[in-house]
Amino acid sequence: MTRSVVVTGAAGFIGSHLCERLLEEGFAVTGLDSFTDYYSPRRKRSNIAGFLGRGGFRLVEEDLTTVDLGRLLDGAEGVFHFAAQAGVRASWGKDFKPYLDSNVLATQRLLEALKDRPGSRLVHASSSSVYGETDELPTGENAATAPLSPYGATKLAAEHLLEIYRAGFGVRYRALRFFTVYGPRQRPDMAFSRFIEAGLAGRPIEIYGDGSQTRDFTYVEDAVEAAMLAYRYDGPETTFNVGGGSRTALGDVIALVAAELGVRFDVRDGERARGDVADTFADTSRARRELGFAPRVGLAEGIRNEVAWYRKHVAEREGGTSSP
Ligand code: NAD
Ligand code: UGA
Repeated sequence: MTRSVVVTGAAGFIGSHLCERLLEEGFAVTGLDSFTDYYSPRRKRSNIAGFLGRGGFRLVEEDLTTVDLGRLLDGAEGVFHFAAQAGVRASWGKDFKPYLDSNVLATQRLLEALKDRPGSRLVHASSSSVYGETDELPTGENAATAPLSPYGATKLAAEHLLEIYRAGFGVRYRALRFFTVYGPRQRPDMAFSRFIEAGLAGRPIEIYGDGSQTRDFTYVEDAVEAAMLAYRYDGPETTFNVGGGSRTALGDVIALVAAELGVRFDVRDGERARGDVADTFADTSRARRELGFAPRVGLAEGIRNEVAWYRKHVAEREGGTSSP
């Protein structure tokens, strides 16, 4: 019998890769997405174009804060919850509301529905942003959580809700704290996307701060692999770091991107962004031990793939056949 799952945020960057993987593995996938306008909904449609018409995939174009969850979850053995208002730096001021709605309220609604469905599996996309600034590098899952951004606060609130519904109702969840994910279809607000687009267009790039900030960049296929492993995991742990396995300064990334594009960037110095942490580096020993997770794609290869994807998609966009 075909196994059915629901993916929220199916048309997003990571969600669309996850749907592809699930379909390849023979799952029937119901993909929920409301195509928010945080970035171009047309770009999200192009994310799912490759599997939209394919047998086994059903798109539900609704908002998780209002959708009829009984109907959405009917027949599904589990949920991959990847819908969220993402983006660290945009979460201040009046723009906070979608963070609250999509990251906190939507997660609480989903948990209310799952508490009545014993045995359901839930893989939740959490974030390295729950840690905030830390001296513990690499950072283990038991490190203090003190988010620096309103976005991080909503991701941490969602984790607390997961734990409350586990303790109170036995909801079986796995929370994956992803560390800065990149690769083909990366969100256009993220650093690599902005640098590659600028490089291809001959525009300057801006560095927020002095470029010394470091990130544990994670290739999207590795993030998806971790989600699949977590879905199948039956052990006692609930929360896992998912990182690419190394820590790289932004300045070094820019050199790698420039070399891959064959350009010299015109670099503008900007202010360090509020909410941005100085360093992230995942201690992934728990994911390795419990899930058998090991990142496979290193930064140079991953950047090559993202640049190749952008070259193709910018060419298509300019030819009028696609619209990233
Ligand atoms: P994304 O914005 O590309 O994808 C999220 C998708 O969710 C979008 O397509 C959006 O339209 C949809 N969505 C948002 N609110 C919704 C709602 N209320 N109802 C239905 N659909 C809704 O973002 P992404 O980078 O693919 O991130 C996916 C998940 O991974 C998020 O939970 C994010 O917080 C988390 N995460 C991402 C990264 C990263 O580096 N990209 C790192 C850590 C955690
Ligand atoms: C990323 C995602 O965007 C978040 O959704 C996610 O939750 C977070 O990772 C995580 O790990 O949890 P971030 O690390 O800020 O957040 O990723 P990028 O947008 O790729 O930025 C990386 C660094 O580049 C940041 O220090 C940022 O300030 C900097 N940057 C970004 C620039 O200097 N210039 C730019 O034009 C864009």
